[in-house]
Amino acid sequence: MKTIRNLLILTLILSCGSCKNSKFGRGLRGLPENPAADEWYLDAEGFRKTIDGKKTDLYRLSNDAGMEVYVTNFGAVIAAIIVPDKEGIPGDVALGFKEVEGYAAEGDPYFGAVVGRYGNRIDGGRFELDGQVYELPINEAGNDNQLHGGPKGFSEMVWETGELTNNSIELSLVSPDGDMGYPGRLELSVRYTLTQDNALEMVYKAVTDKPTVLNITQHTYFNLKGEGRGNILDHELMLNADHFTPVNQRLIPTGEISPVEGTPLDFTTATKIGKRIDDDYEQLSFGRGYDHNWVINAGDGGLNLAGTVYCEETGRFLEVLTTEPGVQFYCGNFLDGSLTGKSGGSYEHRGGLCLETQHFPDSPNQEGFPSTVLNPGKEYYQKTVFRFSVK
Ligand code: GLA
Repeated sequence: MKTIRNLLILTLILSCGSCKNSKFGRGLRGLPENPAADEWYLDAEGFRKTIDGKKTDLYRLSNDAGMEVYVTNFGAVIAAIIVPDKEGIPGDVALGFKEVEGYAAEGDPYFGAVVGRYGNRIDGGRFELDGQVYELPINEAGNDNQLHGGPKGFSEMVWETGELTNNSIELSLVSPDGDMGYPGRLELSVRYTLTQDNALEMVYKAVTDKPTVLNITQHTYFNLKGEGRGNILDHELMLNADHFTPVNQRLIPTGEISPVEGTPLDFTTATKIGKRIDDDYEQLSFGRGYDHNWVINAGDGGLNLAGTVYCEETGRFLEVLTTEPGVQFYCGNFLDGSLTGKSGGSYEHRGGLCLETQHFPDSPNQEGFPSTVLNPGKEYYQKTVFRFSVK
C-alpha cells in the first residue's frame, strides 16, 4: 500500500516538473508542445503591475483552431500572437517583451501597441486647425517632428479594461483636452476579436468635444518564422497599392502621390522584402530601408486588402485588411539587436515588420491628403483585420 502511495506521489512530482518545463522552457520557441487550454504562454504576473497609479494585466483570447492572442491594457498592446505553421505547430509571430515594464521603458519601439493620437509624423510638431496653431511636444529628436502621438501617447497609457470574453476584449481611454498638445477631450475604444477562422479583428471608435485630428494605428511587429528567429528579409510581401507618398530626409511627406511602378517600392506582386532593399534609390536611403506610406487601391471606405505577407519556411500567410486609406510598411530598420525579446534572444536588425494601417503621415499639414479632422458629433471608426492561414 505504502509503495503504491509513494509511487503516486513520485509520479505527481515528476509530472508537475515537466508541466513547468513545457510552459517556459521546452517545446517550439518556448511554447508548450501541446498548449492546453489552461496553460498560459506568457507569465501573467509579469504584467500585473501598477503604472501611473493604474493596474495593468494580461488577457488571453483563444479560438478552437489553436490560435491565441495575448493583450495587455498597457498601451492596448498585443503581447503575443500564437498561430500554427503548415505542420500545425504553434509559434509566436509577434515581437514583444516578457513583462509589462519592457513596453513602458523608453527604448520600446512601440511593440504591439495602439498608437495615437497621431500615428506617424507631424512636421515640426506643429499644425493649424480652424485658424489656430497647435504646438506639440517633439519626440523625434534628430528630425524635430512629433512621432506617434508624442512622448506620452496612447501607447504609453494604461487603458481601462471593458467587456472581456473568451475571444474578445474591449479597451478604452479618455485623453483630456490639451493632451500631448491636441485639442478636444477624446474618448477612444478598441475592441480586439479573435474569430474562429484565425482572424484578429480590431475595431476602433472615438468621439471628441472639440475639433481635433486623429490617426490611430496598430504597431505589431510580425515575424512569420517566429519572434526572435532572425530577420524578415525572406518574407514575401504584396501591397495592394499602385502609389506611395514620398518623403523628404526628415521622413515628412513631400505632398506628392507617386506611382510605385519601376521603383523598389513596387510590391503589387509578391516580392521578397530583401530583394531590392539595398538598391540605390533615394527614398530607401531616406527611410534606411522601407519606412513609407503606401496608398491602398480602391479606398472606397469599405474593408479593403492592404497587403499580404508569406513565409515559405513556415507556410504562414498573413492578410491585412482595413478601412483606412494608407499603410505604413516599416521593416524594423531601427532594431539593432539591443532589445531582448520574450524568448530571451535579441531582436536583430529587421527582425520584424509592421503594416500600420492609417491615414497618411502629416495629413494635418497636407491639403491634398485625406482629412484626419474629427469634429464633435461625428464618430471616428476604423476596422483592421490581421488574418492568418497557411499555404
Ligand atoms: C514607424 C515609423 C518608423 C519608426 C517606427 C518605430 O513605423 O515610421 O520610422 O519610428 O515607427 O520605431
